[in-house]
Amino acid sequence: MIPSLRQHKRMDSAFIPAATASADAAVSRSHGPRKPNLRSVPRHDLYGKVHAGLRACMCEALTAAARMDPDDPADIAGIVMRMHELVALFSSHLANEDAFVHPAMEARRPGSTARAAHDHAEHVAGFAVLTRDVDALRRASAHARADVAATLCRDVAAFVAANLVHMAAEEHDHNAVLWDTHTDDELRAIEVSIVASIPPSKVPAHLRWMVPALPPQERLAMMRKLRAFAPPALFDASLAAVEPHLRDREWMKLVEALSAA
Ligand SMILES: [Fe+2]
Repeated sequence: MIPSLRQHKRMDSAFIPAATASADAAVSRSHGPRKPNLRSVPRHDLYGKVHAGLRACMCEALTAAARMDPDDPADIAGIVMRMHELVALFSSHLANEDAFVHPAMEARRPGSTARAAHDHAEHVAGFAVLTRDVDALRRASAHARADVAATLCRDVAAFVAANLVHMAAEEHDHNAVLWDTHTDDELRAIEVSIVASIPPSKVPAHLRWMVPALPPQERLAMMRKLRAFAPPALFDASLAAVEPHLRDREWMKLVEALSAA
């Protein structure tokens, strides 16, 4: 519990209402066709922060798989838990895109999600492969464990590679479509719907990856939104989930800034 950092204002299941508005609203506009310029056009980005967390999750999983000692039960248990966490996180993310983002794109630009839909089907197959690998690892005899671990390592690497390419395509190609066909207020409304669909009990597990993966100012902005709109217990739980994954200096910056405002 970190009561000094609370400034609860109201209950709201959509506790990160992309509409923090003033600054964001200033870039809201109606749009004709335009070329995306990812560096200079300050449009609302549905993907960037979420993908930062997912990249951190899968890259850490890849490293952990490579370092695993197949003869150490604690390492085996750790990698099994990590892989289940990865599959749950990515499954949730994929379902959100399918439920909220792709229908919005298809409604205004039919066919624009065809590549992503194909990728998502492959990712679902990837979840099954990783789940199979960790089940095999748990059951493997001492004699076979090193080979099974090597298979898991290769399959995680393939999963990471495919998802890195997929995310880059979404951030460029999907944002180009979304920015051509939706205003920033409409994009924020989609984001609010996604956030509202996440059960509060699952929120800390998402923020545990996303918040540490962001630069300090974005990290602070996200936690300020959470404090402003989420129940205090959820803010406390999320902050506690984030803390172990920040360096001391990063944690102090965050706590000091939250305490100041
Ligand atoms: Fe996707």
